[in-house]
Amino acid sequence: MFGRSFILKISSLPRMEAFVKSSRIFRPMVGRFIAGDGLDDALVVSRALISKSLSVSLDYLGENTHSKEEANTAVATYVSMLEAIAKLPESARKSSATEPLNISIKLTQCGLDQEEAFAEKNLRHVVSVAARYENFVRVDMEASPYTQRTLDMIQRVQADLPNTGTVLQSYLYRTDEDVERMIEKQIRIRLVKGAYLEPSTVAYPEKTKVDEAYVRQAKRLVLAGRYPALATQDERIINEMTAFAKAQCISPDRFEFQMLYGIRRDLQEILVNQGYNVRIYVPFGDAWYPYFTRRLAERPANALFIAKALFKG
Ligand code: FDA
Repeated sequence: MFGRSFILKISSLPRMEAFVKSSRIFRPMVGRFIAGDGLDDALVVSRALISKSLSVSLDYLGENTHSKEEANTAVATYVSMLEAIAKLPESARKSSATEPLNISIKLTQCGLDQEEAFAEKNLRHVVSVAARYENFVRVDMEASPYTQRTLDMIQRVQADLPNTGTVLQSYLYRTDEDVERMIEKQIRIRLVKGAYLEPSTVAYPEKTKVDEAYVRQAKRLVLAGRYPALATQDERIINEMTAFAKAQCISPDRFEFQMLYGIRRDLQEILVNQGYNVRIYVPFGDAWYPYFTRRLAERPANALFIAKALFKG
């Protein structure tokens, strides 16, 4: 009853948003998935993760800015994140992984809904600042109306500034072809299953099909991609991929696993102990609602928690 699409649908209702934001019941769960309101909170969390041999991608929460001014503010925050990372002591910036602390950004936060050229200028600015600090900028993938524009922009920007890459979502029918295109251009890809509510005209409705696509695409990326990131908490898929890499004699430093902050800490530790690079996606900021509801929707037990809270409150 409380499936992924149901939760995504009800959480987009303004009344639901107001309820979740004002209710104290959700606070511990928000705290589990989000590092805090400010960059300083996120850096404290990041340093603790790095001390456990994990690496980090910082995410300043927020999407779909409503004006160019809002987008400029987000871009200024991205730049301050890169500057703060560069100022961390050497010990906090060293790990076996490529860039122990990089950043993830969203094109709708850079102003893609306002004007494409404006968002591209912002992206170029952020990636140039990252290049100055020998860092990397990952462009998250948003809902399917943005897919083509995101991939086009990344290809243009990456041709001039190689320290950027993006994300592909296995639930989209188009992704096998996108994987090949990104391999051809040697653009760094994070592979995810996909977190948005998509119609069956563009995405597999069946989870088994998504999982099959994920494994197929992960294998292609590990064989031929440029330092791919396999972002999943799916233990069965992770085990299949470590076995595949071993069988193909692909050394663990040729790719990394990525997981979300607050999910499957046990599995993160096991992988690190086995010698794999593991990066944790660490979100911070006060615009946590859309990110939080996507996390709730991913797990039936989380959805049940919402339902109970609603009936009680
Ligand atoms: P799946 O949903 O099948 O879960 C497998 C297992 O993981 C579950 O059985 C459970 O044990 C655990 N698990 C998963 N989610 C959980 C949760 N919320 N709470 C508790 N346990 C949970 N999506 C996107 O569309 N664009 C993007 O840019 C990104 N970026 C991104 C970065 C990183 C580092 C990660 C890990 C994920 C993303 N995603 C994303 C989200 C992704 O698309 C997907 O929704 C989630 O990773 C959940 O899918 P899994 O692969 O973990 O599998």
